[in-house]
Amino acid sequence: MSEQKHQGVALITGASTGIGATYAKRLAGRGHDLLLVARDQARLEALAAELREQYGVKVEVLKADLTDRADLNRVAQRLRSDTSISALVNNAGVAINGALLDTDLDRFDAMIQLNVVAVTHLAAAAAANFVAQGRGTIINIASVLALAPELFNGTYSGTKAFVLNLSQSLAQEVKDQGVRVQVVLPGATRTEIWERSGTDLDTFPQEMLMEVGEMVDAALAGLDQGELVTIPSLPEKADWDNFTAARFHMAPNLSRSSAAARYKA
Ligand SMILES: NC(=O)c1ccc[n+]([C@@H]2O[C@H](COP(=O)([O-])OP(=O)(O)OC[C@H]3O[C@@H](n4cnc5c(N)ncnc54)[C@H](OP(=O)(O)O)[C@@H]3O)[C@@H](O)[C@H]2O)c1
Repeated sequence: MSEQKHQGVALITGASTGIGATYAKRLAGRGHDLLLVARDQARLEALAAELREQYGVKVEVLKADLTDRADLNRVAQRLRSDTSISALVNNAGVAINGALLDTDLDRFDAMIQLNVVAVTHLAAAAAANFVAQGRGTIINIASVLALAPELFNGTYSGTKAFVLNLSQSLAQEVKDQGVRVQVVLPGATRTEIWERSGTDLDTFPQEMLMEVGEMVDAALAGLDQGELVTIPSLPEKADWDNFTAARFHMAPNLSRSSAAARYKA
Protein backbone atom coordinates (compact mmCIF):
# COMPACT_ATOMS: atom_id res chain seq x y z
CA MET A 1 0.00 0.00 0.00
CA SER A 2 2.00 2.97 -1.22
CA GLU A 3 0.98 6.60 -1.68
CA GLN A 4 -0.44 6.22 -5.20
CA LYS A 5 -4.14 6.47 -6.07
CA HIS A 6 -6.66 3.76 -7.07
CA GLN A 7 -5.41 1.05 -4.77
CA GLY A 8 -8.55 -1.04 -4.60
CA VAL A 9 -10.95 -1.34 -1.72
CA ALA A 10 -9.89 -1.84 1.89
CA LEU A 11 -12.49 -3.62 4.02
CA ILE A 12 -12.10 -2.51 7.65
CA THR A 13 -13.98 -4.17 10.49
CA GLY A 14 -14.70 -2.17 13.64
CA ALA A 15 -14.45 0.99 11.57
CA SER A 16 -16.98 3.07 13.51
CA THR A 17 -14.44 4.32 16.06
CA GLY A 18 -10.97 3.86 17.54
CA ILE A 19 -8.25 1.98 15.68
CA GLY A 20 -10.55 0.93 12.82
CA ALA A 21 -11.79 4.48 12.16
CA THR A 22 -8.19 5.69 12.20
CA TYR A 23 -7.16 3.04 9.65
CA ALA A 24 -10.09 4.23 7.52
CA LYS A 25 -8.74 7.79 7.52
CA ARG A 26 -5.16 6.77 6.82
CA LEU A 27 -6.05 4.30 4.05
CA ALA A 28 -8.36 6.86 2.44
CA GLY A 29 -5.37 9.23 2.51
CA ARG A 30 -3.36 6.55 0.68
CA GLY A 31 -5.98 6.32 -2.07
CA HIS A 32 -7.99 3.29 -1.01
CA ASP A 33 -11.71 3.12 -1.51
CA LEU A 34 -13.29 1.74 1.64
CA LEU A 35 -15.83 -0.76 2.85
CA LEU A 36 -16.56 0.06 6.49
CA VAL A 37 -18.02 -2.62 8.77
CA ALA A 38 -19.43 -2.29 12.32
CA ARG A 39 -22.80 -2.33 14.07
CA ASP A 40 -23.37 1.43 14.48
CA GLN A 41 -24.61 2.47 11.05
CA ALA A 42 -25.03 6.15 11.93
CA ARG A 43 -21.40 6.44 13.00
CA LEU A 44 -20.20 4.58 9.91
CA GLU A 45 -22.28 6.86 7.64
CA ALA A 46 -20.89 9.99 9.34
CA LEU A 47 -17.30 8.75 8.89
CA ALA A 48 -18.03 7.73 5.29
CA ALA A 49 -19.35 11.21 4.46
CA GLU A 50 -16.29 12.84 6.04
CA LEU A 51 -13.86 10.62 4.09
CA ARG A 52 -15.65 11.06 0.75
CA GLU A 53 -15.52 14.81 1.26
CA GLN A 54 -11.93 14.97 2.48
CA TYR A 55 -10.22 12.39 0.26
CA GLY A 56 -12.55 11.96 -2.73
CA VAL A 57 -12.60 8.18 -2.28
CA LYS A 58 -15.58 5.84 -2.60
CA VAL A 59 -16.83 4.62 0.76
CA GLU A 60 -19.48 1.98 1.34
CA VAL A 61 -20.98 1.13 4.70
CA LEU A 62 -21.85 -2.43 5.67
CA LYS A 63 -23.70 -2.71 8.98
CA ALA A 64 -22.95 -6.07 10.60
CA ASP A 65 -22.74 -7.66 14.01
CA LEU A 66 -19.82 -10.02 13.54
CA THR A 67 -20.92 -12.16 16.49
CA ASP A 68 -24.04 -13.00 14.48
CA ARG A 69 -23.34 -15.92 12.14
CA ALA A 70 -25.61 -14.68 9.34
CA ASP A 71 -23.99 -11.21 9.41
CA LEU A 72 -20.50 -12.73 9.56
CA ASN A 73 -21.27 -14.99 6.59
CA ARG A 74 -22.54 -11.99 4.61
CA VAL A 75 -19.32 -10.04 5.20
CA ALA A 76 -17.14 -13.12 4.56
CA GLN A 77 -19.01 -13.84 1.32
CA ARG A 78 -18.40 -10.26 0.14
CA LEU A 79 -14.71 -10.59 1.02
CA ARG A 80 -14.45 -13.90 -0.78
CA SER A 81 -16.12 -12.81 -4.01
CA ASP A 82 -15.47 -9.08 -4.54
CA THR A 83 -12.33 -8.78 -6.65
CA SER A 84 -12.14 -5.01 -6.13
CA ILE A 85 -11.14 -5.67 -2.49
CA SER A 86 -7.34 -5.58 -2.10
CA ALA A 87 -6.94 -5.23 1.67
CA LEU A 88 -8.58 -6.46 4.86
CA VAL A 89 -8.07 -4.75 8.20
CA ASN A 90 -9.32 -7.45 10.57
CA ASN A 91 -9.72 -5.11 13.53
CA ALA A 92 -13.11 -5.43 15.28
CA GLY A 93 -12.61 -6.72 18.79
CA VAL A 94 -13.76 -6.39 22.37
CA ALA A 95 -11.95 -6.73 25.69
CA ILE A 96 -13.48 -8.10 28.85
CA ASN A 97 -11.95 -6.90 32.07
CA GLY A 98 -12.71 -9.74 34.43
CA ALA A 99 -11.17 -12.87 35.92
CA LEU A 100 -12.17 -16.28 34.60
CA LEU A 101 -13.75 -17.28 37.93
CA ASP A 102 -15.76 -14.07 38.34
CA THR A 103 -17.14 -13.41 34.87
CA ASP A 104 -20.29 -14.62 33.14
CA LEU A 105 -19.06 -17.17 30.61
CA ASP A 106 -21.58 -15.95 28.01
CA ARG A 107 -19.59 -12.72 27.85
CA PHE A 108 -16.44 -14.69 27.10
CA ASP A 109 -18.30 -16.63 24.41
CA ALA A 110 -19.27 -13.39 22.67
CA MET A 111 -15.69 -12.12 22.88
CA ILE A 112 -14.31 -15.36 21.44
CA GLN A 113 -16.91 -15.22 18.69
CA LEU A 114 -15.72 -11.74 17.66
CA ASN A 115 -11.98 -11.85 18.45
CA VAL A 116 -11.37 -15.41 17.25
CA VAL A 117 -14.17 -16.89 15.12
CA ALA A 118 -14.95 -13.76 13.08
CA VAL A 119 -11.26 -12.93 12.61
CA THR A 120 -10.64 -16.48 11.35
CA HIS A 121 -13.57 -16.52 8.92
CA LEU A 122 -12.69 -13.11 7.50
CA ALA A 123 -8.99 -13.89 7.17
CA ALA A 124 -9.83 -17.14 5.37
CA ALA A 125 -12.26 -15.41 3.02
CA ALA A 126 -9.80 -12.62 2.19
CA ALA A 127 -6.93 -15.08 1.72
CA ALA A 128 -8.98 -17.15 -0.74
CA ASN A 129 -9.88 -14.04 -2.77
CA PHE A 130 -6.35 -12.61 -2.69
CA VAL A 131 -4.58 -15.90 -3.53
CA ALA A 132 -6.86 -16.29 -6.56
CA GLN A 133 -5.80 -12.81 -7.69
CA GLY A 134 -2.14 -13.14 -6.73
CA ARG A 135 -2.26 -9.96 -4.66
CA GLY A 136 -3.70 -8.47 -1.48
CA THR A 137 -2.91 -7.48 2.09
CA ILE A 138 -4.35 -8.84 5.33
CA ILE A 139 -3.76 -6.81 8.49
CA ASN A 140 -4.83 -8.56 11.69
CA ILE A 141 -5.03 -6.56 14.91
CA ALA A 142 -3.77 -8.58 17.90
CA SER A 143 -2.33 -7.03 21.08
CA VAL A 144 0.91 -7.03 23.08
CA LEU A 145 -1.10 -9.05 25.59
CA ALA A 146 -0.57 -11.99 23.22
CA LEU A 147 2.95 -11.96 24.69
CA ALA A 148 2.01 -11.06 28.26
CA PRO A 149 -0.89 -13.13 29.62
CA GLU A 150 0.10 -12.24 33.19
CA LEU A 151 -0.83 -8.59 32.62
CA PHE A 152 -4.55 -9.13 31.93
CA ASN A 153 -7.03 -11.98 31.95
CA GLY A 154 -6.16 -15.12 30.02
CA THR A 155 -9.27 -15.08 27.89
CA TYR A 156 -8.68 -11.73 26.17
CA SER A 157 -4.92 -12.28 25.92
CA GLY A 158 -5.66 -15.80 24.66
CA THR A 159 -7.79 -14.44 21.82
CA LYS A 160 -4.94 -12.14 20.86
CA ALA A 161 -2.34 -14.95 21.03
CA PHE A 162 -4.67 -16.79 18.66
CA VAL A 163 -4.57 -13.85 16.24
CA LEU A 164 -0.76 -13.76 16.42
CA ASN A 165 -0.46 -17.52 15.74
CA LEU A 166 -3.06 -17.42 12.98
CA SER A 167 -1.21 -14.58 11.27
CA GLN A 168 2.24 -16.15 11.52
CA SER A 169 0.94 -19.41 10.10
CA LEU A 170 -1.20 -17.80 7.39
CA ALA A 171 1.76 -15.68 6.27
CA GLN A 172 3.69 -18.90 5.61
CA GLU A 173 0.74 -20.37 3.75
CA VAL A 174 0.33 -17.49 1.29
CA LYS A 175 3.79 -15.97 1.06
CA ASP A 176 4.57 -17.35 -2.39
CA GLN A 177 1.18 -16.37 -3.77
CA GLY A 178 1.49 -12.60 -3.76
CA VAL A 179 -0.42 -12.08 -0.51
CA ARG A 180 0.94 -10.07 2.41
CA VAL A 181 0.01 -10.69 6.03
CA GLN A 182 0.82 -8.32 8.87
CA VAL A 183 -0.15 -8.72 12.50
CA VAL A 184 -0.12 -5.61 14.68
CA LEU A 185 0.39 -5.86 18.44
CA PRO A 186 -0.69 -2.53 19.91
CA GLY A 187 0.05 -1.72 23.52
CA ALA A 188 -2.48 0.31 25.47
CA THR A 189 -4.04 2.76 23.01
CA ARG A 190 -6.48 5.56 23.83
CA THR A 191 -9.84 4.40 22.40
CA GLU A 192 -13.33 3.60 23.64
CA ILE A 193 -12.36 -0.04 24.29
CA TRP A 194 -11.33 0.91 27.81
CA GLU A 195 -14.65 2.47 28.75
CA ARG A 196 -16.52 -0.35 27.00
CA SER A 197 -14.65 -2.90 29.13
CA GLY A 198 -15.25 -0.96 32.34
CA THR A 199 -11.67 0.24 32.83
CA ASP A 200 -10.99 3.80 33.96
CA LEU A 201 -8.29 5.09 31.63
CA ASP A 202 -7.38 7.91 34.02
CA THR A 203 -6.12 5.32 36.52
CA PHE A 204 -3.86 3.77 33.87
CA PRO A 205 -0.16 4.82 33.80
CA GLN A 206 -0.17 7.54 31.13
CA GLU A 207 3.41 6.72 30.07
CA MET A 208 2.09 3.35 28.86
CA LEU A 209 -0.71 4.84 26.77
CA MET A 210 -0.36 5.71 23.07
CA GLU A 211 -2.61 8.02 21.05
CA VAL A 212 -4.49 6.11 18.38
CA GLY A 213 -3.15 8.16 15.43
CA GLU A 214 0.45 7.50 16.46
CA MET A 215 -0.27 3.78 16.88
CA VAL A 216 -1.85 3.38 13.43
CA ASP A 217 0.85 5.49 11.72
CA ALA A 218 3.53 3.26 13.27
CA ALA A 219 1.65 0.11 12.22
CA LEU A 220 1.45 1.37 8.63
CA ALA A 221 5.15 2.23 8.71
CA GLY A 222 5.77 -1.38 9.79
CA LEU A 223 3.63 -2.56 6.88
CA ASP A 224 5.62 -0.39 4.47
CA GLN A 225 8.82 -1.90 5.88
CA GLY A 226 7.52 -5.37 5.05
CA GLU A 227 7.14 -6.55 8.65
CA LEU A 228 5.05 -9.59 9.49
CA VAL A 229 4.83 -8.64 13.17
CA THR A 230 4.66 -4.98 14.20
CA ILE A 231 4.82 -3.88 17.83
CA PRO A 232 4.41 -0.10 17.58
CA SER A 233 5.91 0.78 20.97
CA LEU A 234 8.83 -1.68 21.08
CA PRO A 235 12.03 0.43 20.87
CA GLU A 236 14.43 -2.40 19.91
CA LYS A 237 13.45 -4.62 16.99
CA ALA A 238 16.25 -6.95 18.16
CA ASP A 239 14.17 -7.84 21.23
CA TRP A 240 11.50 -9.37 19.00
CA ASP A 241 14.12 -11.03 16.79
CA ASN A 242 15.79 -12.59 19.86
CA PHE A 243 12.43 -13.81 21.16
CA THR A 244 11.73 -15.44 17.78
CA ALA A 245 15.23 -16.94 17.65
CA ALA A 246 14.74 -18.47 21.13
CA ARG A 247 11.49 -20.04 19.92
CA PHE A 248 13.14 -21.42 16.79
CA HIS A 249 16.04 -22.73 18.91
CA MET A 250 13.56 -24.93 20.84
CA ALA A 251 11.78 -26.11 17.69
CA PRO A 252 13.86 -29.24 16.91
CA ASN A 253 13.27 -30.53 20.45
CA LEU A 254 9.58 -29.79 20.87
CA SER A 255 8.54 -33.17 19.51
CA ARG A 256 10.75 -36.24 20.04
CA SER A 257 10.28 -39.98 20.36
CA SER A 258 11.43 -40.03 23.97
CA ALA A 259 10.74 -37.92 27.05
CA ALA A 260 13.40 -35.56 28.39
CA ALA A 261 15.82 -37.13 30.86
CA ARG A 262 14.44 -35.10 33.79
CA TYR A 263 11.02 -36.75 33.38
CA LYS A 264 12.38 -40.30 33.45
CA ALA A 265 12.32 -42.21 36.74
N1 LIG B 1 -7.19 0.18 22.46
C1 LIG B 1 -6.26 -0.64 22.93
O1 LIG B 1 -5.63 -0.38 23.99
C2 LIG B 1 -5.95 -1.89 22.18
C3 LIG B 1 -4.72 -2.53 22.46
C4 LIG B 1 -4.41 -3.71 21.80
C5 LIG B 1 -5.28 -4.22 20.85
N2 LIG B 1 -6.47 -3.60 20.61
C6 LIG B 1 -7.35 -4.21 19.61
O2 LIG B 1 -7.62 -3.28 18.59
C7 LIG B 1 -8.89 -3.58 17.99
C8 LIG B 1 -9.71 -2.30 17.92
O3 LIG B 1 -9.90 -1.85 19.25
P1 LIG B 1 -10.21 -0.34 19.62
O4 LIG B 1 -9.33 -0.01 20.76
O5 LIG B 1 -10.26 0.52 18.43
O6 LIG B 1 -11.68 -0.56 20.23
P2 LIG B 1 -13.00 0.34 20.17
O7 LIG B 1 -12.65 1.77 20.15
O8 LIG B 1 -13.88 -0.20 21.25
O9 LIG B 1 -13.58 -0.06 18.75
C9 LIG B 1 -14.02 -1.38 18.50
C10 LIG B 1 -14.66 -1.43 17.14
O10 LIG B 1 -15.19 -2.76 16.93
C11 LIG B 1 -16.57 -2.66 16.59
N3 LIG B 1 -17.30 -3.80 17.12
C12 LIG B 1 -17.45 -4.16 18.43
N4 LIG B 1 -18.25 -5.23 18.52
C13 LIG B 1 -18.60 -5.56 17.25
C14 LIG B 1 -19.41 -6.57 16.69
N5 LIG B 1 -20.06 -7.48 17.46
N6 LIG B 1 -19.57 -6.62 15.34
C15 LIG B 1 -18.95 -5.70 14.55
N7 LIG B 1 -18.16 -4.72 15.02
C16 LIG B 1 -18.01 -4.65 16.36
C17 LIG B 1 -17.04 -1.36 17.22
O11 LIG B 1 -18.12 -0.79 16.50
P3 LIG B 1 -19.69 -0.93 16.84
O12 LIG B 1 -19.85 -0.77 18.31
O13 LIG B 1 -20.29 0.16 16.00
O14 LIG B 1 -20.08 -2.30 16.34
C18 LIG B 1 -15.82 -0.47 17.01
O15 LIG B 1 -15.83 0.07 15.70
C19 LIG B 1 -9.51 -4.68 18.83
O16 LIG B 1 -9.31 -5.93 18.20
C20 LIG B 1 -8.72 -4.63 20.13
O17 LIG B 1 -8.69 -5.86 20.79
C21 LIG B 1 -6.80 -2.44 21.23
